[in-house]
Amino acid sequence: MTRGPTLEATYEAPPNIALVKYWGVRDRARAIPYNSSVSVTLDRLRSRTTVRFDPEISTDRVELNGATATGGPRESVVRFLDRVRELAHVTYGAEVRSENNFPTASGLASSASGFAALAGAATAALGLRLSGRELSRLARFGSGSAARSVFGGFVEWRAGVKPDGSDCYARPLYGPDHWPSLVDLVLIVKGAPVKQVRSEEAMQASVATSPVYARRLAELPGRIRKIRTAIGERDARRLFPLVMEECDSFREVCETTRPSLDYLTTTSRAILAEVRSVNREAGRPIAAYTHDAGAHLHVFTLGRDVTKVRRRLGRLPGIERTAVLHPGPGGRQVR
Ligand code: PMV
Repeated sequence: MTRGPTLEATYEAPPNIALVKYWGVRDRARAIPYNSSVSVTLDRLRSRTTVRFDPEISTDRVELNGATATGGPRESVVRFLDRVRELAHVTYGAEVRSENNFPTASGLASSASGFAALAGAATAALGLRLSGRELSRLARFGSGSAARSVFGGFVEWRAGVKPDGSDCYARPLYGPDHWPSLVDLVLIVKGAPVKQVRSEEAMQASVATSPVYARRLAELPGRIRKIRTAIGERDARRLFPLVMEECDSFREVCETTRPSLDYLTTTSRAILAEVRSVNREAGRPIAAYTHDAGAHLHVFTLGRDVTKVRRRLGRLPGIERTAVLHPGPGGRQVR
């Protein structure tokens, strides 16, 4: 028996942390968000995904971090592969292997890096030569935040205005070397609860029930403009308060969602308070907190203040581990 052609590629993509959060989908079928978002792509951490298409495979096989994926996680990968197969006009089955070089419970969403890597690997394996913009446009169907992980440095995912979503993709604002002294301390808190509601559903509950959702949407274009300018000028004094204001706005939306979405633990809240008091005592904002739909915290600071900020946060009980990260490069094909 002769074997059919095998088509294989490997792609690596990084996670990102949102400075302006994506939270709410306007058009589910086209994966168009209500608002644009801004993020920093992080260095050192990677999802590495290999996709091999093979006409002889009838049912997709998906392996995530060494274990066979089943149920929801497998389904979302298969649905994404279907989209790529349709683009390439093929019906081959696939074998997907994906590994993160960081623990899944590390406080960093692996959906962004994972789907950006899957988009890169699956399209390359089928010989689709997509531009970064096209890859970003595709990756958002796996996970919204994946649209931003295609690029390195400081990234804006524009919601766009076209009903068909063709102008809904991320673009790099500034490269990874734009602001090398910017540090992201990732604080892993002990006893973080396992997510009860998937982000995809949680954000739609916020759209439907939070009384402050509409006000947040109205505020965002102005906040995004100011954040873009502060990043451009490497102006931490302006950026840090805006990042915290945005995080507070996101948290307010979550907490006023019915049923309420409460992602933080006592330790997470103690970190928020400690960052505020560090800034008060310094007489200027030397640190900024942010968090996603989870209990772990990201605290931005500058290289010269890292020791001081770490020392202060290190006194708090309940922090398991701290990772020191920087802006990093975007996704790339490795094989
Ligand atoms: O990309 P998703 O569907 O996992 O949602 C991401 C939601 C947040 O992490 C809370 C915000 C963001 O923009 O990353």
